[in-house]
Amino acid sequence: MKKVDYFSIIQKYIPADTLAYRLYIPHVVQVTARALKITQRLELSKDQQQFIESAGMLHDIGICKVHDPYLGCEGELPYLAHMTAGRDILIAEGLPQHARIAANHTGTGITKEIIHKQELPLLEEDFVPETVEEEIISYADLFYTKVPDYLWVERTIEEVRKGREKFGIDDVKKFDEWVRRFEG
Ligand SMILES: [Fe+2]
Repeated sequence: MKKVDYFSIIQKYIPADTLAYRLYIPHVVQVTARALKITQRLELSKDQQQFIESAGMLHDIGICKVHDPYLGCEGELPYLAHMTAGRDILIAEGLPQHARIAANHTGTGITKEIIHKQELPLLEEDFVPETVEEEIISYADLFYTKVPDYLWVERTIEEVRKGREKFGIDDVKKFDEWVRRFEG
């Protein structure tokens, strides 16, 4: 598998002298490190490890298109649209597999029924992790935030689980299944 120069891609969209970059890098490093530990625990292949490394580092690249001054993001889109914006960017960069992760890494997945019911600012399609790599990155992402005061705080499994309760029993069940598979 060809190595992806993810730092060049990150700095192309999120310049290194910005607040967004200072929040982005610690966040994606923590998510990627946790995801890679799981990759090792599951004894996934070298190619899968390499993919998880670059996809973890790029999964939130779409934040450069959203409007969130608190995170230093000066785009125009609502925050949730960082998923589809990230997908567009990574497809344009010739990374369609990485683009899938940008699109489907939020929570335990967002279905078109949820988007419709909650009138979320997303196209009505399923954004649900399918491959084991997609599931691992979505899982790892649940433990960290980009919010400045909590940037380096890792949530416990119990805290994440509590946080999933507002999304319903199926969401909690999926999280519990991930805990069983990924924490060993
Ligand atoms: Fe993230």
